[in-house]
Amino acid sequence: VIAPEMLVARVRALPALPAAAHRLGALLHDERSTASDFERAIRPDPALTANLLRLVNSAYFGLRSRAETVRQAVTLLGLKRTFELASSASLAPLLPARLPGYEVDAKEFWLHCIAVAVLSERLSIERGDAKMPDLLFTAGLLHDVGKLAIVTFVSQESERILERVRGDDRPFVCAERDILGVDHCDAGAAVAEAWSLPRAVAWAASWHHAPSVAPPEVDRGVVDLVHAADALAHALGLGADVGELAREIDPGVQERLGLKVSRLERVASRSLEEIHEMASLFKVGAGARA
Ligand SMILES: [Fe+2]
Ligand SMILES: [Fe+2]
Repeated sequence: VIAPEMLVARVRALPALPAAAHRLGALLHDERSTASDFERAIRPDPALTANLLRLVNSAYFGLRSRAETVRQAVTLLGLKRTFELASSASLAPLLPARLPGYEVDAKEFWLHCIAVAVLSERLSIERGDAKMPDLLFTAGLLHDVGKLAIVTFVSQESERILERVRGDDRPFVCAERDILGVDHCDAGAAVAEAWSLPRAVAWAASWHHAPSVAPPEVDRGVVDLVHAADALAHALGLGADVGELAREIDPGVQERLGLKVSRLERVASRSLEEIHEMASLFKVGAGARA
C-alpha cells in the first residue's frame, strides 16, 4: 500500500510544468488578461513558441490566414484555445517513454489523452452547449495524468493487480485501489494540485471513473463529458492500456447527457481523423526525468 507521503513524494518528483504554462493558467483566470499578456508569457519559451506556431498553422485548425508571430497566433486562436495548446505542448515532453504496469508506450498513452481531449469538446458541441464548460479540452487531456505519478508502484505490483483484474474480474482502477490503497484518480487530483491546474482538471481526474458519485461541488458537466469521451476513446481503440479495456458509459451519464449511443458513435467516428492529426503534432516520449 502506498502511504500518503509516498504519493506526495512521487507527485513532487514529477517534472514541473514549464513556467510559461503555469503563467498562462494564471492569466486565464484573470479577466483583465489580454493577448499581449499571453504573448509576454509565451515568447520567453522558445520550444513553446515554436510548437504554438506549428500548431496554429497546421491543417487541424484550418485557419485562412497564417500566423507568423506569437501575437498573431494568440489573436487567431483566442486566449482559451492558446492555453489549451500550450498545456498540450507542455505535457507531451513530460511523458516517460513507457508506462510499465499499464503496458502502454508514450505514443499510445498520448493518443488516448488527445482522443479524450478532442472527444470531450466534440461531445459538448454535439449537445449544443452554447457556452462550453471552460477548459474541457485540457480536463480531457489530463484525465489520466495520475498514472504518471503511480506508474512505478503499479509496475512493482503489476502481478497482484492483474490477478485481481483477471481472476476476480475487478476493473483495473479498483484493483489499483485494492492493492495500492490509491488509484490513478486520487493521484491525478494530487498532480492537478501540485501543478496548480484549474479545478475542472482536478475534477475530471478525480471522477472520470465514477461520475455518478461525484460530490455536489463538482461540475458534473465536465466530469460526465470526460467520462463519456474516455469510453468512446476506448471504443475507438484509442486507449489500449491494460487498465482501461472494455469500458462502458455509466448509465447515469448517458441519461444526463441525453445523447443516444448512435449519436455518440457518430461523433466518435467523425473525430477520428482530427485526433490522429492532433496527436501527431506533438513530440512525445522524450522521457521524464524523475
Ligand atoms: Fe482513467
Ligand atoms: Fe482514460
